[in-house]
Amino acid sequence: MVDLNKIYSDRAARYIPAGAHTYSKGADQFPVNAPSVIERGDGCYIWDANGNQYTDFAMSLGTVVLGHAYQPVLETVRTELNKGVNFVRPSIIEGELAELLCDIIPCAEMVKLAKHGSDVTTGAIKLARAYTGRERVVRCSADPFNSVHDWFIGSTVVDRGVPQAVKDLTLQFEYNNIDSLKCLFEQFPNEIACIIFEPISFIVPHDGFLQEVKDLCEEQGAILIFDEVVSGFRFALGGAQQYSGVTPHLAAFGKAMANGFSVSALAGSKEIMQLGGIEHESERVFLLSTTHGGETHSIAAAIKTINTIKEQNLIEHFWHVGKSLKLGILKAANNSELSNYVHVGGYDCKPAFALLNDKGEACMAMRTLFLQETIKRGLMMPYIVPCLAHTDEVIDHSLNIIEDVFSIIKTALDTGSIEKKIVGPIVKPVFRKFN
Ligand SMILES: Cc1ncc(COP(=O)(O)O)c(C=O)c1O
Repeated sequence: MVDLNKIYSDRAARYIPAGAHTYSKGADQFPVNAPSVIERGDGCYIWDANGNQYTDFAMSLGTVVLGHAYQPVLETVRTELNKGVNFVRPSIIEGELAELLCDIIPCAEMVKLAKHGSDVTTGAIKLARAYTGRERVVRCSADPFNSVHDWFIGSTVVDRGVPQAVKDLTLQFEYNNIDSLKCLFEQFPNEIACIIFEPISFIVPHDGFLQEVKDLCEEQGAILIFDEVVSGFRFALGGAQQYSGVTPHLAAFGKAMANGFSVSALAGSKEIMQLGGIEHESERVFLLSTTHGGETHSIAAAIKTINTIKEQNLIEHFWHVGKSLKLGILKAANNSELSNYVHVGGYDCKPAFALLNDKGEACMAMRTLFLQETIKRGLMMPYIVPCLAHTDEVIDHSLNIIEDVFSIIKTALDTGSIEKKIVGPIVKPVFRKFN
């Protein structure tokens, strides 16, 4: 049989550095038996070019919360497409989405739309620097990613190509360690423009921690920015800020808001946001002026997606799906006597799991074997993103596969043959200095 997956992925590798437009989709992230290209998706299923079907829990890096090719969103998009996609003056629905976001997001008095999460985290930093007249940015060491732009990438191990002067401006504090933030304010008095971080991710904030961060920012004249690119429309309709009850000055949203269409939003207080406007008397700030930010069908997709989450109470469903999976994975690990080697954590709406070695550290070889064996059985679960299409039946079926795979891993562990069972190279972390 002709291997269409290989033909298409070889072409991509020839013409695209890393063969993909997102490193987390790259060949080094998956075992060799993983589908190397995806041809289509429907609900929580995806198909590769050779016609193999997989149950999908990655849901397009967390963007597809209603399911692939979700028809009500596509119908809305088709209607909007027939009217044209972008115009010389703002389209009517730009204001409609902005108003909807201001209604549901606690910090949002004004909103600026863009395409990527990185556009809006970086836009938030620009605004904070302009508002405070300061240059230093503090991010959280626990956050794996806040932006593709230099202010963030320069603070990771893959900092090649980022000027030292830019790197010097990004500092890091530790999650749940308010003293680590206080130290930075003491070390750089009146120099820190903002604190940007995911308010809630996998780690549970200590009681009062988020409020302490906000109070410290206000005391020190810095801007608090929540990166809600992942937590938005997932922890609660109004994001982690609604869930936690702590309202930041600015916040960045993306991922889950348009069921895979490209829309992101910078939201915040009018006092700060309006610096990007054209009516004030002070010096202007050039804030997120993008050609495609007003693309109408993506905005229509966002309005339909957000309203669907709201009307069908899907936040509750996301929490239910994640909880069932977490409990099921723990039970499967227990049944396979693998409890010490499987870590399950995170919030139910955004669960996390990892395979651990004898020392309790995340183990890439075990992860590779898990992915290889689940993929062999039609399950694509590099990480877990609950969506509307994940029914109890889909969850039960997937947990049965996981239990089978855990027993294979247990046998391999007992016989010291984890690496021998892996066909091809072991998967690698995205953030590493050398290939
Ligand atoms: C927490 C967080 N912030 C920002 C981003 C950047 O979003 P984008 O890839 O849409 O630019 C990501 C992407 O994974 C993210 O996870």
